Amino acid sequence: MANQQKTPLFSKLVDHISREPHSLHVPGHKWGSVFPDFARKSFESVLKLDATELNHLDDLHDAQTVIEEAQQLLADVYRTQASFFLVGGSTVGNLAMLLSVCQKDDAILVQRDSHKSVINGIQLAQAKPIYLPSEYDKKTGLSTGVGLNTVIKALQEFPEAKAIFLTNPSYYGITRDLKDVIKIAHQNEIPVLVDEAHGAHFGVGEGFPSSAITQGADIVVQSAHKTLPAMTMGSYLHVNSRLISNEKIKYYLQILQSSSPSYPVMASLDLARHYVANLSQEEVATILESSEEFKSLLKKVPQISVIELSETTSLTIDPLKITLRTNCELTGIQIQSLLEEQGIFVELANEEYLLLVLPLAPFKEGEYIASVIQRVLKPYRTIKRTSKKRELSRRSIVKLTVDELDRSNTTFIGLEEAVGRRVAEPIIPYPPGVPLLIPGETITQENIEMIIKLIDAGTRFQGHANLKETGLKVFITDERKEARE
Ligand SMILES: Cc1ncc(COP(=O)(O)O)c(C=O)c1O
Repeated sequence: MANQQKTPLFSKLVDHISREPHSLHVPGHKWGSVFPDFARKSFESVLKLDATELNHLDDLHDAQTVIEEAQQLLADVYRTQASFFLVGGSTVGNLAMLLSVCQKDDAILVQRDSHKSVINGIQLAQAKPIYLPSEYDKKTGLSTGVGLNTVIKALQEFPEAKAIFLTNPSYYGITRDLKDVIKIAHQNEIPVLVDEAHGAHFGVGEGFPSSAITQGADIVVQSAHKTLPAMTMGSYLHVNSRLISNEKIKYYLQILQSSSPSYPVMASLDLARHYVANLSQEEVATILESSEEFKSLLKKVPQISVIELSETTSLTIDPLKITLRTNCELTGIQIQSLLEEQGIFVELANEEYLLLVLPLAPFKEGEYIASVIQRVLKPYRTIKRTSKKRELSRRSIVKLTVDELDRSNTTFIGLEEAVGRRVAEPIIPYPPGVPLLIPGETITQENIEMIIKLIDAGTRFQGHANLKETGLKVFITDERKEARE
């Protein structure tokens, strides 16, 4: 292994600023000296790292020195052919992956409950997605990703597909073993792309799931900023493929990412890699222990339960994710509000669940937080709840391309009258950012009930502040239906 003690990019930046350089270049804050006085203190140390592409600080889009070395150290840790720093989150990684594998009218097999960036990437590529339904856990109703049989059938039916795009783990940390899916796709010479946004820490040691990249996936994108100590927007893209070239990926990354990528974000990616590479197995064991201890304290609170899966042979839950189910008269969102009053902020809440994300470090606040949860929930009655299956529309093919959709006439229609019509814009509850409806899909009664339920529970829909009043945008004629046959 290479010398993982090194932090080439971060160290070069620190060295540069220690020489008290005079800036006659961008950015305009001049290492923080030109900045509103009242805010300077808060930003000071970050602005000292906020450089630009000076000769000795390399260039993300043509990395040759310190950024190249930092990326090679990353590739060394994740055992890849090539790994790239991303400054636009996994969002840009997903777009680049998709544009690298498919062009206009190409078929691509895609997990239906993907993040909106995946749906957007397909639109940009003007590809024809074949959406694969996920399976759902019986006990919790949560998505467990696409099963092997679904992939096998899809490969038989669509041998012309240019790639398979999967999301693993889910937002809730539910992780599926992908080895068999990858094996069968490769037997068909089809690359597997994985959105591993929530799994940048996978593979750190025993007790954590392994990354899709070590299971043989061709390209994997990880939001380092979600579970590693990296700044927001900092992500990694890993390539290990004989089917897709690194050059193609690089080409799209330089198109999609800023020509002035943030040095603080990139330096934090260098440091996050250093952090992962230097975690000892003892530290990993302590992290796992503190997660287990926290869970056992939470299990003592009768008003909530810690979810477990009914099937555990090919599925696991990431130890950094804890999903609580409400067992009381309060919804998950109401519990979230009570906790916020106590200064405790969770990752996500909905009617039934609260999602907690633990740090990749021993969790020291577990006892305190569990005691607050116990105290604030004490007055509330426990009730028996059954999980609802959160299945998304099962219709699996949207054969319309973006320009066909763009050329269609649309109108708004009340929620109740929309059943049976085809939706003309994505409906995306956030978080988790998985579209409930994708343009071209037929709206079902179940979709409408879910939308109303989510609105009533206080869920935000991006770009739709007032869905109940505006209704849904649908296609006016049914010419499109014919186009699909
Ligand atoms: C599954 C999944 N993929 C991709 C993304 C986008 O990641 P980023 O925020 O790093 O752009 C998210 C964001 O929440 C996500 O949940």
